[in-house]
Amino acid sequence: MSNGNSLVVVGAQWGDEGKGKVIDYLADKADLVARFQGGNNAGHTVVYGANIFKLHHVPSGILNEGTLCLLGNGMVVDPLVLVDELSELEKRGINTKGLRISSKAHLNMFYHRDLDEENEKLLGERKIGTTGRGIGPAYADKVMRRGIRAVDMVEFRTFRQRLEEILPLQNLILNKIYDHKGYDLEQLLDIYRPAVERLGPLVSDTSLILAESLQNGDKILFEGAQGALLDLDHGTYPYVTSSSTTAAAAASGNGIGPQHIDQVLGVIKAYTTRVGEGPFPTEDHSEAGAQLRERGNEFGTTTGRPRRCGWFDAVIARYAARINGLTGLAVTKLDVLSGMDTVKIGVSYDCEGSRAEIFPTSIEKLSKCSPVFETFPGWDEDISRARTIEDLPAAARHFLEVIEDRVGVRIELVSVGPDRSQTIIKDSSNLKRWHF
Ligand code: GDP
Ligand code: IMO
Ligand code: MG
Repeated sequence: MSNGNSLVVVGAQWGDEGKGKVIDYLADKADLVARFQGGNNAGHTVVYGANIFKLHHVPSGILNEGTLCLLGNGMVVDPLVLVDELSELEKRGINTKGLRISSKAHLNMFYHRDLDEENEKLLGERKIGTTGRGIGPAYADKVMRRGIRAVDMVEFRTFRQRLEEILPLQNLILNKIYDHKGYDLEQLLDIYRPAVERLGPLVSDTSLILAESLQNGDKILFEGAQGALLDLDHGTYPYVTSSSTTAAAAASGNGIGPQHIDQVLGVIKAYTTRVGEGPFPTEDHSEAGAQLRERGNEFGTTTGRPRRCGWFDAVIARYAARINGLTGLAVTKLDVLSGMDTVKIGVSYDCEGSRAEIFPTSIEKLSKCSPVFETFPGWDEDISRARTIEDLPAAARHFLEVIEDRVGVRIELVSVGPDRSQTIIKDSSNLKRWHF
């Protein structure tokens, strides 16, 4: 049975909602933090004082000394990037000894990155706008049953053997389809050897580690990457990522039963952003969108691309609540709205003259919809020092109440700045019980 102590944190929009900040804040009280999907397409920023950390594979819990951090079987791991990430953390005095990699996680290799880039080139105008990190091709190889797994790094000769088996086909695909010269086995082995030797000892049966942790009654956090609308099944397909980003994947992506998931916290910005291509109903191409980008510093953590910006969309939030079973919301970047004359919330869509409350099932249907907004007075106060809901101006409190009402999920946490300390936990929330 569940021990009542596990919490999944997922993005409830198109990624970059501030999951890293929320996880880091909550991890202070966690014994274990586990990622369950995605790879280094993720960019999670954590800020405390003058320290800024940008994490790609490693769970944001690593910054809390003593927290065990797992990379689950549902992830694709780039060994070269992970080694750099660990070295950088260690250089900055962070203890990374608590990191373990699931033996069943798949490896995201050099040729996956090439395939990702070449595929995007081939798509031309129809490109997805991927992060170029090889994510889609790495998951495709997993599904095609020709991937290299983390367990293959335990002994270098196994890694060599797997690469020897797999490289000819990868080279054939690169040569014949993409006119790319491909890779020499020995050269690749030389490049990978230090990473494989460094990571091999970290490879573990992470499902077993979790089972023991659940048994002990430990506090466990699952860290989602990307967001609900980028989910491979439920997102704005094909403009999605290649993994299941929703809460249920925390179980399958870590090898535990779904009954061990107690709460699901959806992280959502007080407005909306998206990087890459694909539909975005509340996108604002006017001055307001530009203001959100500038004030919210909306440039990608992973690729530096400017993020597309627009107003809060309650239709996608309700959808994210349904497909994740959200038990609470964490609303981030409320401070970014300070100084706007008016603030808007998309509450439904107008789809060819009829009102839709429910998110359409395909992007073709979605393309015929435009948002219906409710507009509210803004507030001028700097709210970055607010530490309780009562510290917020009435207009900001009202904005949050409207979000709660239109989404139908309780707000449990409000973030008013990037720093760990700039966080409000509602007194009445489940999170308060979890966290203290
Ligand atoms: P993630 O991918 O969901 O972890 O989000 P990112 O880290 O990619 O993007 C969120 C950005 O907003 C980061 O630069 C955070 O430091 C920053 N951030 C998070 N919460 C807040 C907040 O409440 N206010 C402001 N101004 N910035 C925030
Ligand atoms: P975090 O965890 C925002 C987007 C890409 C592209 C699509 C597919 O930081 O929230 P991929 O490289 O995954 O094949 O790209 O998904 N994307 C993200 N957008 N935040 C992310 O991660 C993202 N990871 C992927 O921009 O549109
Ligand atoms: Mg991000």
